[in-house]
Amino acid sequence: MKPFVYITRKIPSEIVENLQSNFEVEMWEREDSPVPRTILLEKSKKASALFTVLSDNVDQELFEVSSELKVVANMAVGFDNIDLNAANEKGIAICNTPDVLTETTADLTFALLMATARRVVEAAQFVREGEWKSWSPLLLAGTDIHHKTIGIVGMGSIGEAVAKRAKGFDMEILYHNRSRKQKAEEELGAVYTELDELLKRADFVVCLAPLTAETKGLFQKEQFRMMKKSAIFINAARGPIVNEENLYEALQNKEIAGAGLDVFDKEPISADHPLLTLKNVVALPHIGSSSRETRYNMMMLCVENINLILNGDKPKTLVNKEWLGKEK
Ligand code: DGY
Repeated sequence: MKPFVYITRKIPSEIVENLQSNFEVEMWEREDSPVPRTILLEKSKKASALFTVLSDNVDQELFEVSSELKVVANMAVGFDNIDLNAANEKGIAICNTPDVLTETTADLTFALLMATARRVVEAAQFVREGEWKSWSPLLLAGTDIHHKTIGIVGMGSIGEAVAKRAKGFDMEILYHNRSRKQKAEEELGAVYTELDELLKRADFVVCLAPLTAETKGLFQKEQFRMMKKSAIFINAARGPIVNEENLYEALQNKEIAGAGLDVFDKEPISADHPLLTLKNVVALPHIGSSSRETRYNMMMLCVENINLILNGDKPKTLVNKEWLGKEK
C-alpha cells in the first residue's frame, strides 16, 4: 500500500501531481476555509505526511492519533502553529518554507510601511468615493519615509531584506534581535540597539520577530507609550506579538500616528474589528508571502520535503534538528 499524504488546503493540481505518482494523496478541497478539526484528526490517523498551512493547529492531540506520521510540511516560514516538543517526542520531522519567501515578504512589509505613511489606501478610497474636488496644499498629506529612522524588531532574513530596502530610501536603520547581525551592520549600516531605545528613536517600528514564548505580547501599552507620537507601527510577523487592545488605545489616543498590520491576534478578523474603525490603520489579510511565484515555490518546497522524508532522505528545510538521527 502506498503511504498516505494529506493536504489540508486546496492547492493547484499541478503541484499535487508531484506527490501522486508515489503516494496516495487526499486534499481538503476548499481554498477559503480551513479543514475542520475532526477531519484533520481523522486523516492524520493514517497519514505518513501532512502538508499543512499556518491556520492548522498541529498539536499533541494530533500527534497522539497519528501512528504513521513521519513529516509535517508547513507552508510558512513560521511554525508557531505546531507543537515542536510533541513532534520531537514522537520523532516526527517538521519542515517549513524559509528563504523562498524572504524577498517577497520584505516587499510587502515595505509596501505596508509606505502605504501607511503616505495614506495610500485612504487616498485611493477617497478618489473612488468621488470625494476629490480639487488639488489642495495639504490634501491627504502623509509623512516622509526617506531619510527617516526605521527600527526593525526581529532581524532574521526578512528583517535584513527590509533593511536593504530601507537603505535604498536613505533611512537610518536600527535593529533589535536576539543576536547581533554583523553582515547587516557592515553592509547596511544597521545599528544594534536595546528595544527601549529603538522604540524611542524610530519613526517606523517594524515587527518581524517570530512568535515565541518570549515575544508573545511584546508590544503593549508601555511599548507604544515609548514610541514617538509621530511613529508608525508595522506588524508583518504574527498577531499575538501585539496586544491589540493596547494598540487600538495607542492609536485612538494619538500616542502613535498609525499602524500597518498584515497579521492579527485571531485571524481572520471580521469587518467590525475595532482597529478597522480607525483611518490611520492599514489592514491586510496576512499576505506577506503572497506573490504567485513565491507561493508556488513554497508549495513545491513542501512537496520536496515530503518526497525526501518518505523516501528516507533528509529534508531540505528541517525545523526540529532534534529529529536528525531519530528518523522513523
Ligand atoms: C509565514 O510564512 O510564516 C508567513 O506568515 C506566511 O505568509
